[in-house]
Amino acid sequence: MTATKPVNLWTSNEHARDYLERADSISHRNEGESALLEFIPQTTHRILDLGTGDGRLLGLVRREHPDTEAVAVDFSPTMLEAARKRFAGEPSVSVVAHNLDDALPALGKFDAVVSSFAIHHVVHERKRALYAEVYGLLNPGGVFCNLEHVASPNPRLHQEFLERIGFTVETEDPSNKLLDFETQLRWLREIGFGDVDCQWKWRELALLAGMRA
Ligand SMILES: C[S@@+](CC[C@H](N)C(=O)[O-])C[C@H]1O[C@@H](n2cnc3c(N)ncnc32)[C@H](O)[C@@H]1O
Repeated sequence: MTATKPVNLWTSNEHARDYLERADSISHRNEGESALLEFIPQTTHRILDLGTGDGRLLGLVRREHPDTEAVAVDFSPTMLEAARKRFAGEPSVSVVAHNLDDALPALGKFDAVVSSFAIHHVVHERKRALYAEVYGLLNPGGVFCNLEHVASPNPRLHQEFLERIGFTVETEDPSNKLLDFETQLRWLREIGFGDVDCQWKWRELALLAGMRA
């Protein structure tokens, strides 16, 4: 018997376009992004953005750290095109096509690995493996900042969150593979990250951060 492939709709142009149209209106996301920016060290030279989309988060980070080199990873053709357009005049940014279901390719070392609302699209086992790969990619003192969509502790709170962002359990993205933030923080500690904490949270949106000592 062949295993069924987990649903991930993000390679569809329509799915990506629909997100980009409403990305700015997602409640409280700006607060999470601002909190994330506080954790990027001033000494950062290289940044990796996992599931970059149109490069929104990386654009914000580079606005504060303009003299950095960056790699933006995604697997959606629509998103890759949008990110390439955003960073067209910036030769220090490379946009790389890669499916996060698979081990990361050789990308060099980084001082900051960031991600927003992307890693919850891979299955739990792969999330943990990816976090370990991120640890391996960080220079000493480097940070991992994952602004993530995490699971609610019960169906009622999940439903309330969905309503706040304009969805229902019927219309929510079937690509989501939500996991509670406590488990993810525990994994980060087990992998070896230090200073691990949930640094910001609003309902199912959470900033999980840690550093490589
Ligand atoms: C909700 S969007 C977030 C995009 C961007 N980080 C932002 O905050 O606007 C999720 C992103 O994750 C990407 N993604 C989902 N699953 C992926 C996978 N398996 N490999 C690579 N990228 C993936 C999607 O293509 C999309 O760009």
